[in-house]
Amino acid sequence: MLNFEYYNPTKIVFGAGTTAALSRLVPETARVLLLYGGASAEKTGTLADVRAALAGRVVHEFGGIEPNPSFETLEGAIAQVRAEKLDYLLAVGGGSVIDGTKFVAAAAVYDGDAWEVASSRGAVVQRALPFGAVLTLPATGSEMNNGAVVTRKATHTKQPFRSEHLFPKFSILDPTRSYSLPLKQVANGLVDAFVHTTEQYLTYPAQALPQDRFAEGLLQTLVEIAPRALAAPDDYDTRSNLMWAASLALNGLIGAGVPQDWATHMIGHELTALYNIDHARTLAIVLPALLQVRRDSKRDKLLQYGARVWGITDGSEEERIDAAIARTRAFFESVGIPTRLSGYGLGQEAVEAVLAQLAAHGMGKLGERRDINLDVSRAILQSAL
Ligand code: NZQ
Ligand code: ZN
Repeated sequence: MLNFEYYNPTKIVFGAGTTAALSRLVPETARVLLLYGGASAEKTGTLADVRAALAGRVVHEFGGIEPNPSFETLEGAIAQVRAEKLDYLLAVGGGSVIDGTKFVAAAAVYDGDAWEVASSRGAVVQRALPFGAVLTLPATGSEMNNGAVVTRKATHTKQPFRSEHLFPKFSILDPTRSYSLPLKQVANGLVDAFVHTTEQYLTYPAQALPQDRFAEGLLQTLVEIAPRALAAPDDYDTRSNLMWAASLALNGLIGAGVPQDWATHMIGHELTALYNIDHARTLAIVLPALLQVRRDSKRDKLLQYGARVWGITDGSEEERIDAAIARTRAFFESVGIPTRLSGYGLGQEAVEAVLAQLAAHGMGKLGERRDINLDVSRAILQSAL
């Protein structure tokens, strides 16, 4: 096992009807900015419940945070926090709203150019406003981690950043909030959580037995619940397991003490920045191709993954690895997500465009061994055509 420090201070309040807990979680004297996305939070009644639970506090609102939240939009929220002297943020939504809130929490109290919060990858963040979250979409894990991704539309830059100051104080995880999700978003959530797990598991053996078994359990859980998560939107048990599995996949626990890859995410972010493809869909395009191209350096873990997650024990090593990759691709396709660039109307031109972006963003050394250079990324993208 590798050396590690593990820290996660986010309080989780889980279960149906828990939005009312906001009345004790948000300080009574707080001057709150409530941040949300488009129409869904209002339509589903979530905002009404949140407003009721915050009664008695000064509450301002900032709506319109878009999927893949943009710096350009978030600047408005930063200005509002400063003008109204607000001191507590509450995100109501999915990963985009929570990530956007993290950016505002840091940027509103940062003296320099706000974009530096992201462009420094969080290094300039010395403090942040406190914030909590009411999660409406199980997928990213943002509700229980200190990372975020914001996009600068002007330059097509999708920039991840993180800081110890950017853990939510609390997150409310009410699985019934997810009942109203379009099935496409449910599928996205299943795939995003699956790939968060593989990024921290499908690398090389580190003799980290609890982390491996935990990761395998999460992957098996996601595969097991996927059909029902899509077929029965109001099945409480299924949606509970999806919501908690997605948080566990990226709350730092399975990543402690093990090598981590994240190349699929970095290449995927460029596909979103260029073509506006949903985050999880970019992962479904890149991961099977990456596993194919990296099959030698990931050999031991691919064999372990095949055996333990998919029950693949027959055949030569090459055959078992082929089968493990095929099962991964088939899982993504089974939830309705195409796994090739051609499925999104993209061809060779996209390979060149993504490579140019990776070069421009200093993404020439990716993967758990930092040896996915631009040539390897090219091979991955070619294999994803
Ligand atoms: O805008 P509204 O109307 O609210 O609609 C949203 C949005 O269109 C809708 N939605 C959310 N909850 C709903 C709902 N519709 C009906 N009922 C509900 N209960 O869903 C759409 C997508 O929302 P979004 O927040 O964009 O999705 P997701 O949670 O998948 O977040 C994606 C973003 O998170 C980043 C991604 O890059 C992307 O920008 N990520 C953040 C990570 C982190 N902070 O750790 C890690 C991830 O790898 C990822 O990069
Ligand atoms: Zn992700």
